[in-house]
Amino acid sequence: MNKITAAITGIEGYVPDYVLTNKELESYVDTNDEWIVTRTGIKERRILKEEGKGTSILGSKAVDGLLKKTNTSAKEIDLIICATATPDMIFPSTACLIADKVGACNAFAYDLMAACSGFLFALSTAAKFIETKTYKKIIVVGADKMSSIIDYKDRATCIIFGDGAGAVLLEPSDMGLGVQDAILKSDGSGSEFLHMKAGGSARPASHATVDAREHSVYQDGQTVFKAAVTSMADVSEEIMKKNKLSSDDVTWLVPHQANQRIIDATARRMGVGNDKVMVNIEKYGNTTNGTIPLCLWEWENKLKKGDNLVLAAFGGGFTWGAIYLKWAYDPNK
Ligand code: UT7
Repeated sequence: MNKITAAITGIEGYVPDYVLTNKELESYVDTNDEWIVTRTGIKERRILKEEGKGTSILGSKAVDGLLKKTNTSAKEIDLIICATATPDMIFPSTACLIADKVGACNAFAYDLMAACSGFLFALSTAAKFIETKTYKKIIVVGADKMSSIIDYKDRATCIIFGDGAGAVLLEPSDMGLGVQDAILKSDGSGSEFLHMKAGGSARPASHATVDAREHSVYQDGQTVFKAAVTSMADVSEEIMKKNKLSSDDVTWLVPHQANQRIIDATARRMGVGNDKVMVNIEKYGNTTNGTIPLCLWEWENKLKKGDNLVLAAFGGGFTWGAIYLKWAYDPNK
């Protein structure tokens, strides 16, 4: 009997309508369009403006669209894993809220937290449930409302992040398509360079934490940049070597969208030309768990059955990793 692999059989994305341009950011902090574009590649990002709406709205729009697009009934879904760093609330999980919103009443659901690498960690976890024949239909959604944890007075972080979500449907393949391999890593000693100081159990919210603006992303940009360049390039090269993939064998690099320069360094190390790299950072900035599925969504019509994709990410934790997968369907399936 053929080995079962976990194939992506559908992809959908969602970004909110509001466009936050570099020009608008110039009115909040001492920055300018030229600096942001040169140093990051970002021109604009999307923001979920509506009061009282959290990450589950972004995630459920992506999941709802995915179900419609793949003609899948919400009741057929066995499991929803939501990778997010910005849950609607500490509990219940955003995945539970999404499952409820889309009517996935037979699914169990949970969140997975690995900052910007979360989508890869979740995809790999979900793949195991398929490979072991435990479940047949799993949705992995990467969603973040980063604007909810950004200090728009901090120019080191507010220029980078945006809001968005993407979701994939995973199903069994007996043709060897889908997830082939994953290399996932973490190093908690990096936590001091990228974190949110307050709002967790170590430093619960108080007047003092609010006054000290501790409920937003803190990042030591240069240290994170150096670690990201090295780690993302290293792990991408490692997964290629492990699976005997030459740069010609790689059809697409799907990198986390944190900084154009990090993406370029990864592609260079892999020997992959720019024409094989998915990049939409200029439109959406860094949507944390949304970046990789949003790329797949935008490139869906160019992807062909059997294409070799390397997905790579780096983020808070530190966490990083790469997944090698074979795309499972042709455009306009
Ligand atoms: O996705 C999660 C992982 N995160 C990442 O991978 C992000 C990694 N880090 C980065 O992408 C970059 O470090 C940043 C985009 C955050 C910053 O770029 P950089 O090239 O590392 O800038 P820098 O912090 O070294 O600052 C260079 C200069 C400084 O001025 P001086 O000291 O040279 O006079 C900063 O004060 O640019 C200044 N600067 C800015 N100027 C205009 C810093 N931020 C800004 C800004 N606008 N927004």
